[in-house]
Amino acid sequence: MAHSSFPYYTLGTIVHGLGRGGKELGCPTANFDENAVAKLPSSIYQGVYYGWAKLLIPDDNQVYKMVTSVGTNPFYNGEKKTMETHILHKFTKDFYGETVKIVLLGEIRKMTTFNSASELVDAIQNDISIANNKLDSEECRQYLTGPFFQ
Ligand SMILES: Cc1cc2nc3c(=O)[nH]c(=O)nc-3n(C[C@H](O)[C@H](O)[C@H](O)COP(=O)(O)O)c2cc1C
Repeated sequence: MAHSSFPYYTLGTIVHGLGRGGKELGCPTANFDENAVAKLPSSIYQGVYYGWAKLLIPDDNQVYKMVTSVGTNPFYNGEKKTMETHILHKFTKDFYGETVKIVLLGEIRKMTTFNSASELVDAIQNDISIANNKLDSEECRQYLTGPFFQ
Protein backbone atom coordinates (compact mmCIF):
# COMPACT_ATOMS: atom_id res chain seq x y z
CA MET A 1 0.00 0.00 0.00
CA ALA A 2 1.28 3.46 -0.86
CA HIS A 3 2.26 5.61 2.10
CA SER A 4 -0.35 8.30 2.74
CA SER A 5 0.68 11.95 2.42
CA PHE A 6 -1.55 12.79 5.41
CA PRO A 7 -1.32 14.12 8.00
CA TYR A 8 1.16 16.60 6.50
CA TYR A 9 2.52 19.12 9.02
CA THR A 10 4.29 22.26 7.92
CA LEU A 11 4.84 25.87 8.80
CA GLY A 12 5.84 28.97 6.89
CA THR A 13 5.89 32.72 6.67
CA ILE A 14 2.94 34.55 5.15
CA VAL A 15 4.01 36.45 2.03
CA HIS A 16 2.18 38.67 -0.44
CA GLY A 17 0.34 36.81 -3.19
CA LEU A 18 -0.96 38.51 -6.30
CA GLY A 19 -3.83 40.01 -4.30
CA ARG A 20 -6.71 38.45 -6.23
CA GLY A 21 -7.87 36.11 -3.48
CA GLY A 22 -9.52 38.63 -1.19
CA LYS A 23 -10.58 41.13 -3.85
CA GLU A 24 -11.75 39.07 -6.83
CA LEU A 25 -12.74 35.85 -5.13
CA GLY A 26 -13.98 37.10 -1.77
CA CYS A 27 -11.69 34.55 -0.19
CA PRO A 28 -8.60 35.94 1.52
CA THR A 29 -5.68 33.50 1.62
CA ALA A 30 -2.39 33.36 3.46
CA ASN A 31 0.29 32.64 0.85
CA PHE A 32 3.22 30.53 2.10
CA ASP A 33 6.82 31.48 1.43
CA GLU A 34 8.80 29.68 -1.32
CA ASN A 35 10.68 27.56 1.17
CA ALA A 36 7.50 25.99 2.51
CA VAL A 37 6.32 25.32 -1.06
CA ALA A 38 9.66 23.74 -2.00
CA LYS A 39 9.42 21.31 0.94
CA LEU A 40 6.06 19.85 -0.15
CA PRO A 41 6.19 16.20 -1.21
CA SER A 42 5.48 15.72 -4.92
CA SER A 43 2.29 13.86 -3.97
CA ILE A 44 0.78 17.10 -2.66
CA TYR A 45 0.21 18.98 -5.90
CA GLN A 46 -2.61 20.64 -7.85
CA GLY A 47 -5.11 19.98 -5.11
CA VAL A 48 -7.41 21.48 -2.51
CA TYR A 49 -6.94 20.16 1.04
CA TYR A 50 -8.63 20.51 4.42
CA GLY A 51 -7.05 20.72 7.84
CA TRP A 52 -6.17 22.96 10.77
CA ALA A 53 -4.19 26.20 10.99
CA LYS A 54 -2.68 28.22 13.80
CA LEU A 55 -1.21 31.71 13.55
CA LEU A 56 1.83 32.27 15.76
CA ILE A 57 0.77 35.71 16.92
CA PRO A 58 0.34 37.15 20.42
CA ASP A 59 -3.04 36.72 22.10
CA ASP A 60 -4.34 34.15 19.59
CA ASN A 61 -4.01 30.60 20.76
CA GLN A 62 -6.79 29.27 18.58
CA VAL A 63 -6.51 26.48 16.02
CA TYR A 64 -8.78 27.26 13.08
CA LYS A 65 -10.46 25.21 10.38
CA MET A 66 -8.89 25.84 7.00
CA VAL A 67 -8.76 24.93 3.31
CA THR A 68 -5.45 25.03 1.46
CA SER A 69 -4.83 25.12 -2.27
CA VAL A 70 -1.55 23.83 -3.70
CA GLY A 71 -0.67 24.28 -7.36
CA THR A 72 -0.16 26.71 -10.19
CA ASN A 73 -3.66 28.30 -10.13
CA PRO A 74 -4.52 27.17 -13.68
CA PHE A 75 -7.57 29.47 -13.83
CA TYR A 76 -5.09 32.38 -13.78
CA ASN A 77 -2.62 30.56 -16.09
CA GLY A 78 -0.15 30.62 -13.23
CA GLU A 79 3.28 29.11 -13.72
CA LYS A 80 4.56 29.11 -10.18
CA LYS A 81 3.51 26.49 -7.65
CA THR A 82 2.00 28.18 -4.61
CA MET A 83 0.44 27.07 -1.34
CA GLU A 84 -2.35 29.26 0.05
CA THR A 85 -4.42 28.76 3.18
CA HIS A 86 -7.88 30.21 3.70
CA ILE A 87 -8.84 30.20 7.37
CA LEU A 88 -12.54 29.69 8.16
CA HIS A 89 -12.68 32.76 10.38
CA LYS A 90 -13.26 36.41 9.68
CA PHE A 91 -10.16 38.44 10.54
CA THR A 92 -10.06 42.21 10.45
CA LYS A 93 -6.39 42.51 9.49
CA ASP A 94 -3.64 40.96 7.38
CA PHE A 95 -0.85 38.74 8.72
CA TYR A 96 2.01 39.38 6.32
CA GLY A 97 5.36 38.37 7.81
CA GLU A 98 3.76 36.22 10.52
CA THR A 99 4.27 32.48 10.89
CA VAL A 100 1.44 30.05 10.27
CA LYS A 101 1.42 26.35 11.19
CA ILE A 102 -0.86 23.96 9.33
CA VAL A 103 -1.70 20.30 9.14
CA LEU A 104 -3.24 18.97 5.94
CA LEU A 105 -5.53 16.02 6.70
CA GLY A 106 -6.88 15.08 3.29
CA GLU A 107 -7.70 16.11 -0.26
CA ILE A 108 -11.05 17.58 -1.29
CA ARG A 109 -10.47 17.69 -5.06
CA LYS A 110 -7.87 18.36 -7.72
CA MET A 111 -7.16 21.95 -8.66
CA THR A 112 -8.59 22.72 -12.08
CA THR A 113 -9.53 25.56 -14.38
CA PHE A 114 -13.00 27.08 -14.76
CA ASN A 115 -14.93 29.02 -17.41
CA SER A 116 -15.42 32.06 -15.21
CA ALA A 117 -14.33 33.56 -11.90
CA SER A 118 -17.82 32.96 -10.53
CA GLU A 119 -17.45 29.21 -11.14
CA LEU A 120 -14.16 29.29 -9.24
CA VAL A 121 -15.88 31.22 -6.42
CA ASP A 122 -18.65 28.57 -6.28
CA ALA A 123 -16.06 25.76 -6.20
CA ILE A 124 -14.17 27.48 -3.37
CA GLN A 125 -17.40 27.98 -1.37
CA ASN A 126 -18.15 24.29 -1.84
CA ASP A 127 -14.61 23.36 -0.70
CA ILE A 128 -15.12 25.47 2.42
CA SER A 129 -18.40 23.75 3.21
CA ILE A 130 -16.86 20.28 2.74
CA ALA A 131 -13.90 21.21 4.95
CA ASN A 132 -16.21 22.66 7.59
CA ASN A 133 -18.14 19.37 7.80
CA LYS A 134 -15.16 17.02 7.67
CA LEU A 135 -13.29 18.91 10.38
CA ASP A 136 -16.16 18.38 12.84
CA SER A 137 -15.38 14.64 12.91
CA GLU A 138 -13.57 13.06 15.86
CA GLU A 139 -11.02 11.69 13.38
CA CYS A 140 -10.02 15.24 12.46
CA ARG A 141 -10.48 16.80 15.89
CA GLN A 142 -7.87 14.48 17.44
CA TYR A 143 -5.17 16.59 15.72
CA LEU A 144 -6.17 19.65 17.73
CA THR A 145 -4.65 18.25 20.90
CA GLY A 146 -1.37 16.89 19.50
CA PRO A 147 2.02 18.46 20.36
CA PHE A 148 2.25 20.38 17.04
CA PHE A 149 -0.34 22.96 18.10
CA GLN A 150 0.60 23.15 21.80
C1 LIG B 1 -10.15 26.57 -1.41
C2 LIG B 1 -9.45 27.08 -2.63
C3 LIG B 1 -9.58 26.40 -3.82
C4 LIG B 1 -8.96 26.85 -4.98
N1 LIG B 1 -9.11 26.17 -6.14
C5 LIG B 1 -8.53 26.63 -7.27
C6 LIG B 1 -8.71 25.95 -8.51
O1 LIG B 1 -9.35 24.90 -8.61
N2 LIG B 1 -8.12 26.49 -9.62
C7 LIG B 1 -7.35 27.62 -9.58
O2 LIG B 1 -6.85 28.05 -10.61
N3 LIG B 1 -7.15 28.27 -8.40
C8 LIG B 1 -7.72 27.80 -7.27
N4 LIG B 1 -7.52 28.45 -6.08
C9 LIG B 1 -6.50 29.50 -6.01
C10 LIG B 1 -6.97 30.84 -6.42
O3 LIG B 1 -6.77 30.94 -7.81
C11 LIG B 1 -6.07 31.82 -5.70
O4 LIG B 1 -6.38 31.81 -4.34
C12 LIG B 1 -6.22 33.18 -6.27
O5 LIG B 1 -5.57 33.19 -7.51
C13 LIG B 1 -5.62 34.25 -5.39
O6 LIG B 1 -4.24 34.22 -5.46
P1 LIG B 1 -3.40 35.47 -5.00
O7 LIG B 1 -3.63 35.61 -3.52
O8 LIG B 1 -1.97 35.11 -5.35
O9 LIG B 1 -3.91 36.63 -5.78
C14 LIG B 1 -8.15 28.01 -4.92
C15 LIG B 1 -8.00 28.70 -3.71
C16 LIG B 1 -8.65 28.26 -2.57
C17 LIG B 1 -8.48 29.01 -1.29
